[in-house]
Amino acid sequence: MTTSQFSCQGIELTLFRYPKKQESNLQAWDASDEHLIKHLIENQQKPVNTAIINDSFGALQCALTAINDHWPLVIETDAKTSLLGAQQNLSDNHLNAKYIEYFNSRELLPRNIQLVLMKLPKNLSYFAHQLQRLSHVLPQGVEVLISAKAKSINKSIIDVISKNLGPASASLTWKKTRVISCIADGLTRALPQDVSWEVAELGLSINNMTNVFAANKLDIGARFMLDNMPQGQYHTIVDLGCGNGILGLRAAQLYPNANIHFVDDSEMAVESSRVNFSANKLNAKATFHWDDCLTNLGDVEPDLVLCNPPFHQGEAITDHIAWQMFLDAYRKLATGGVLHVVGNRHLEYHVKIKRIFKNCTTIASNDKFVILHAIKQ
Ligand SMILES: C[S@@+](CC[C@H](N)C(=O)[O-])C[C@H]1O[C@@H](n2cnc3c(N)ncnc32)[C@H](O)[C@@H]1O
Repeated sequence: MTTSQFSCQGIELTLFRYPKKQESNLQAWDASDEHLIKHLIENQQKPVNTAIINDSFGALQCALTAINDHWPLVIETDAKTSLLGAQQNLSDNHLNAKYIEYFNSRELLPRNIQLVLMKLPKNLSYFAHQLQRLSHVLPQGVEVLISAKAKSINKSIIDVISKNLGPASASLTWKKTRVISCIADGLTRALPQDVSWEVAELGLSINNMTNVFAANKLDIGARFMLDNMPQGQYHTIVDLGCGNGILGLRAAQLYPNANIHFVDDSEMAVESSRVNFSANKLNAKATFHWDDCLTNLGDVEPDLVLCNPPFHQGEAITDHIAWQMFLDAYRKLATGGVLHVVGNRHLEYHVKIKRIFKNCTTIASNDKFVILHAIKQ
């Protein structure tokens, strides 16, 4: 059973994921958050200028603010759900957010940081990029504590850290997690080039920042969707979970008079879509939204929602975001509007879509994927 009661080293909090009401029983923190907090308390850490990077739903920033409500924190996250989740948890626990500043993963952090707490992200190219960005701002000698599941920590992770920031070593295992301590060496590293590739037959060139889904090549589900785009006239289109924007870019080619809304939880994905839309010189209109599903789409009433839903969030395998995407699509679509989805066959999205839309047609299928089409009646 999921608990929302966080209890660690005498700190008691109530923590929820974002959004609070969701079709999952996942917890808002994990043992690697507790390990970092235990490490700080045992080392009697003073409330110095601290950066927190990849704090899933704010457990770390809430805990440090609970210890000292003047603890100066800068928070870096690429995920809107993480930002909104942290703000919700601070507010629910009546914690003071006055000394907390937020940054996305493209902005450089301030130069006065004295301590960094970081959770190891799943995407290791993104992790290396985060370390390289830190190397631009951290003076020599600043300690960076990186926590992760013990099974995710190996020699190559330690090598990535040493190569991109400074010498590193890992603690003993506690609750199946370890904390790596790295001391910044004060040397500035080159930042990575964005990865680019072509979809030659469509004349599209795609640029991807490090934390964007399918950064190195076209996703095979997206490829199947490109081969099976909906027929018809559409004017207001949403690319929901746009990643690098590939589905919305194709929609802009097929429906050049449409207004296309690119939406993603990842700020880098939204920015990659913006760069790609502009570089491919398309005629349609485009609007870009860093958002949790369609929470803040305002009064836009799409007649088409294109969606290749995610089936994990960080380390967790989950279909709750697909659920939320289908529900939001239904809520926002104009009557007669269409939801057009690609999914792995075994995920059985048709069951969910039929429950919400009361109709669902399989437009195409192969041995791995299905294309599903539902109409808002
Ligand atoms: C399977 S990828 C599809 C990307 C792109 N549309 C494609 O077909 O290659 C799913 C996308 O959903 C995004 N995503 C995950 N959670 C989200 C949320 N709560 N709201 C909006 N987008 C989300 C991910 O960042 C990712 O870019």
